[in-house]
Amino acid sequence: MKFKTVFVCQKCGYEAAKWAGKCPDCGEWNSLQEEVKQQESKKEKKNRSFTDFSSEIVKLADSKAVQEPRIPTQIGEFDRLLGGGLVAGQLTLLAGAPGIGKSTLMLQVADALAQTRKVLYISGEESISQISGRAQRLGVKNPNIYLHCETNIQNIITAVENEKPDVLILDSIQTVYHPEFTSSAGTIGQVRECAAELVRLCKPKGIITFVLGHVTKDGELAGPKILEHMVDSVLYFDTEKDNVLRLLRPHKNRFGSTSEIGLFKMTGHGLESVDNASEYFAQTSSSAALKGRAYTLALEGSRPLLTEVQALASPTHYPFPRRVATGVDLNRCLMLFAALEKHVGLSLDNKDIYISIAGGVKMKDPALDLAICAAVISSVKDVAIPHDWLFLAEVGILGQIAKVPLIDRRLEEAQRLGFKTAFAAPVSKSEKQKLTGIVLKEITEINELALKLK
Ligand code: TYD
Ligand code: MG
Repeated sequence: MKFKTVFVCQKCGYEAAKWAGKCPDCGEWNSLQEEVKQQESKKEKKNRSFTDFSSEIVKLADSKAVQEPRIPTQIGEFDRLLGGGLVAGQLTLLAGAPGIGKSTLMLQVADALAQTRKVLYISGEESISQISGRAQRLGVKNPNIYLHCETNIQNIITAVENEKPDVLILDSIQTVYHPEFTSSAGTIGQVRECAAELVRLCKPKGIITFVLGHVTKDGELAGPKILEHMVDSVLYFDTEKDNVLRLLRPHKNRFGSTSEIGLFKMTGHGLESVDNASEYFAQTSSSAALKGRAYTLALEGSRPLLTEVQALASPTHYPFPRRVATGVDLNRCLMLFAALEKHVGLSLDNKDIYISIAGGVKMKDPALDLAICAAVISSVKDVAIPHDWLFLAEVGILGQIAKVPLIDRRLEEAQRLGFKTAFAAPVSKSEKQKLTGIVLKEITEINELALKLK
């Protein structure tokens, strides 16, 4: 067998014969790394497709759709996010920063699945005693869970073939290596080959597989994008700045939607599902009327989340006033500030403005617009907004108020949370009839809101 040196982009997998500062394919700087590669014969290359997938040619009309039965994990948020549970043979990639709780979540999922299934937990990161220490902390002692510490993919395959588990957890893809490849574990070639081996191994056997992965400091999956194509679901585990709340976001999901998020709380005994996110957020904020604070219900997937927008307008000491936004898009805020200057007549050019979404959750729902405007007006005019007022509308650059999607769900949630007044664009009669404990103030222009805040 022949060997040759190639330079592989660690971001996109592009192979070049010579080193270059910038990847010619994806444009990333400093991503080309030297790797030694075996030159394969044509026959070998053919044999190394990711999966041996082949079928007869059939008419779509004659093909039978099989509704895959769902396997629930009984972890509320996890099941909801997956679209009702796991599917046999599902390969899931769980990515997140170190210390976020990937291994903890997996151990809890292992515990739930081990009620009826055999689970093999393979770790290349921790020793058996470290894993069992965590299991003790979580109160996991199911006899159906088997632990194995291994990093050689061929030994992992042998272990799976001998043990015949129903569920396989591999912690993490960056620590395993293929002995036939000389590059070190975690490089693009290794990650790709090991993942391909796992697909070949687990798919035909119907093994539910979880592969854990690291993310780079930019929050992207360390390793090739191709990994995301090979698996059925990609879940990103993320935290917000208070570091207690954990968000699980599907990036790809072959068996469900990608617009849902799962919320968890890290406690002393593992991760707990936060089923009622709005209440969780509501508990953390004070009920006093504050200047510069406005609430909205922003959608994350199909779920309204209570969101607190804070604005601070203070006299500027710089030639150019400062504009800072955390948790929302700054450009969107700049546009809203301009609309407020033009249509409400607020003078903002001598003020620094800071906008922040409390709790640090990043949002991009258009329903935030009106709340941002209300918070800015409140801070500039120095008037407090009552804590039971809610703002639910999009604001255009012409100062017009537009309706936001799923307004009925948001208003329903607002009533449940005890809000008394909601500002929104006019709604239909049927939507209005459903309202009981809340007064809806329908506005069509931003100036109408400014007149109410006095
Ligand atoms: P871990 O699952 O090891 O993270 P990852 O595998 O993503 O690197 O756990 C991360 C953190 O969670 C760790 O710093 C300790 C904390 N933790 C708790 O607060 N409570 C618990 O019950 C457990 C098991 C961990
Ligand atoms: Mg871990």
